[in-house]
Amino acid sequence: MTMRALTCIEDMRQVARRRVPKMFFDYADRGSYAEETLHSNREDLQRVKLRQRVLVDVSQRSLATTILGEPVALPIALAPIGLCGMQWGDGEILACRAAQAAGIPFCLSTMSICAIEDVAAAVEQPFWFQLYVMKDRGFARALVERAIAARCSALVLTIDLQVLGQRHYDIRNGMTVPPEIKLRNVIDIATKPGWAISVLRGKRKTFGNLAGHVRGMENVNSLAQWIAGQFDPALSWKDVDWIRSLWPGKLVIKGVLDVEDAKLAARTGATALVVSNHGGRQLDGAVSSISALPKIVDAVGGQIEIMFDGGIRSGQDVLRALALGARSCLLGRAYLYGLGAGGEAGVARAIEIIRNELDVTMALTGSNSIAEIGRHLIAQS
Ligand SMILES: Cc1cc2nc3c(=O)[nH]c(=O)nc-3n(C[C@H](O)[C@H](O)[C@H](O)COP(=O)(O)O)c2cc1C
Repeated sequence: MTMRALTCIEDMRQVARRRVPKMFFDYADRGSYAEETLHSNREDLQRVKLRQRVLVDVSQRSLATTILGEPVALPIALAPIGLCGMQWGDGEILACRAAQAAGIPFCLSTMSICAIEDVAAAVEQPFWFQLYVMKDRGFARALVERAIAARCSALVLTIDLQVLGQRHYDIRNGMTVPPEIKLRNVIDIATKPGWAISVLRGKRKTFGNLAGHVRGMENVNSLAQWIAGQFDPALSWKDVDWIRSLWPGKLVIKGVLDVEDAKLAARTGATALVVSNHGGRQLDGAVSSISALPKIVDAVGGQIEIMFDGGIRSGQDVLRALALGARSCLLGRAYLYGLGAGGEAGVARAIEIIRNELDVTMALTGSNSIAEIGRHLIAQS
């Protein structure tokens, strides 16, 4: 399949749906409970209408900007995705390479298949690392130390997963790592040979950052149980201070949806916060990310860099979020579909699609630079 034939993120989603076993496609695609927040993320973005401006000289357009003070080719980064390497073998390495070739940051999840060290050994430039602080604080400390040793350029602390939201499809599908041996899953995987070969050839088949690093948890099944019991309902802002004391570099706080929390996040001295509801995978019934964004920008945008994620599937969506005050956006599923559809080339194509859409959307709204994008581009209804 040539990636050129895929012209939008939905095309990539359809190819990924055919290529990736159902349990892993659904894991990526679906949201928690009734998926109200998952759908609101998209619906509310689509409701933001842009002003069409004409006869503005837009011949000198540039998409370049900075994220966390570093120059980037366009205002996007690839979001941390657990089990990314189950969409395509070595998926984290492939996605990181595609991001770096496109001049944008890649963020590796704590729950990745490839370990921090695997990715560091396979790519040219530094990447970001996303941390879940687990009950086992010693393990969290060790992860931070590993991220420092791997020269990660930012630590993204995700704070919206103290308990796990339920995704019905994961239960129905027997979504475990490695996959539950159900006849249905075996037949499904047998009909996806391209996926099976890529995953079999991949370095690892389980949580690379955890396996072999948690004492007494060498067995994969006990590892899954360990993880389930490790998310910590007692996590608090004090833990953010503790992480700050361990991590000397740039800190990003991910998972803020409320103005009061945004104010607390700004007080931690973090470099940036991500307005996010975890892609509609945690609190179902929460507001969409895009509806939370302008209030948070108004409250703390002068004190802390504001990033955004949730529902971005096009360059038009990126422009909407930037117009409402985000400095940059994280792509979650948009790049994951690309990975499932075509590995590294698929991620590269997903980024290219969004870049081209953003470029044309800037032109049609009369914008020459990322800095020029603002609320004046939103049509008042
Ligand atoms: C399959 C999947 C796995 C995810 N795993 C993580 C994770 O391990 N850590 C994290 O901070 N966020 C995780 N997220 C949330 C994303 O980082 C991001 O916030 C979300 O995908 C943005 O919404 P979008 O997919 O609509 O773009 C995950 C999202 C998906 C879809």
